[in-house]
Amino acid sequence: MPQTILEGTSDLSTLLSDRRYMLVCGNSFRHQPLYTQLASNAAVVFGGFSPNPLYEQVLDGIHIFNGNHCDAIVAAGGGSALDVAKCIKLYCHTVALHDEAQALSNTPSEFNFLLQEKSDTGIPLFAIPTTAGTGSESTRHAVIYYQGVKQSISHPSIVPDVAILEPSLLKSLPLYQKKCTMMDALCQAIESTWSVNSTDESKGFARQAITLIRDNWQDYIIKQSDQAAALMLKAANLSGRAINITATTAPHAMSYKLSALHQLPHGHAVAVCLPEVWEYMLAHLDDCADTRGSTYLSDTLASLAVSLSWYRNLMVQLGLASPVATDKAQELPTLVASVNPERLKNNPVKLSKEILTTLYERILH
Ligand SMILES: NC(=O)c1ccc[n+]([C@@H]2O[C@H](COP(=O)([O-])OP(=O)(O)OC[C@H]3O[C@@H](n4cnc5c(N)ncnc54)[C@H](O)[C@@H]3O)[C@@H](O)[C@H]2O)c1
Repeated sequence: MPQTILEGTSDLSTLLSDRRYMLVCGNSFRHQPLYTQLASNAAVVFGGFSPNPLYEQVLDGIHIFNGNHCDAIVAAGGGSALDVAKCIKLYCHTVALHDEAQALSNTPSEFNFLLQEKSDTGIPLFAIPTTAGTGSESTRHAVIYYQGVKQSISHPSIVPDVAILEPSLLKSLPLYQKKCTMMDALCQAIESTWSVNSTDESKGFARQAITLIRDNWQDYIIKQSDQAAALMLKAANLSGRAINITATTAPHAMSYKLSALHQLPHGHAVAVCLPEVWEYMLAHLDDCADTRGSTYLSDTLASLAVSLSWYRNLMVQLGLASPVATDKAQELPTLVASVNPERLKNNPVKLSKEILTTLYERILH
């Protein structure tokens, strides 16, 4: 079923009437007036997760969801809250079946829901993003960490049934988080454009997202205007819809370990990786991995609504610097080894381990 995207929260109480829902939200959402309305009608509120959420936290959420006999989920927050909610939806029946089997058996077994088959639980999911940002409210992806390693979970059933875009929720977002999340949206849209999986539809979403960010970032970040916040939320949503089709490419794949090693927010880590990949690709179009060919790739890069020099200048104006490595020689192999080869396959120019090493050398100070 196509997703419903609503602007504003006015239809929310009607949509949620008669539902026994779990509200999944982080602490930051508890200060929002909307929290009081949603929490007072929820069967249970779950906030036991961190930014870059963990497997164990999702498992806790599933037990609370099942234990309270909920029949719907409302997720309000950044990508972390939305991704936790998506995993609760996807795996709550699997975990319930496992728990029932355990109750009948005397021998406890190792259980990892990430290894189980995924299927649609049919649980209605309502997503309210509070960052303009990941676009997770419109993607089939969820990111959680298992034993320190990032797991990207994808399934069509976890695209939220309803996405609710309410720009006033961005007001409380700290300036640095605004910058990082905006850069995540911009990088997603740029990567989606050059991804080998791009289609005319995905490129249309991505172009709109890039143009909205290019034309409104100053009003959003510097003037903090309400109108720009609404446009940024729209841009982030469009970038989510773009990567829902294409998935992300090398800069995202390279960012996860960098984020973990340097405690950088997701968007900051991606934002410092992207220009180095972009510059390398411009100089190595002959190593094109896109079946549409190097001329197509060259035209695609040239058709981006922003240039590499504009991007680098934006990073300077935002004050988003590269991380400083205390021991580069030690860090480089860890970073290179962390890059998921599957995700690299989406990149339009081939990147070997040697090239990744060179790129990380340029990224790190
Ligand atoms: N599922 C997807 O398609 C997708 C896409 C991109 C990224 N991600 C994942 O999303 C996560 C990052 O999400 P994010 O960048 O939105 O950040 P986040 O959800 O981790 O939030 C960052 C911080 O900002 C706070 N916060 C959020 N909204 C706020 C608000 N309005 N006011 C005040 N504080 C607020 C949070 O409490 C948290 O401390 C990562 O785990 C990333 O891997 C998922």
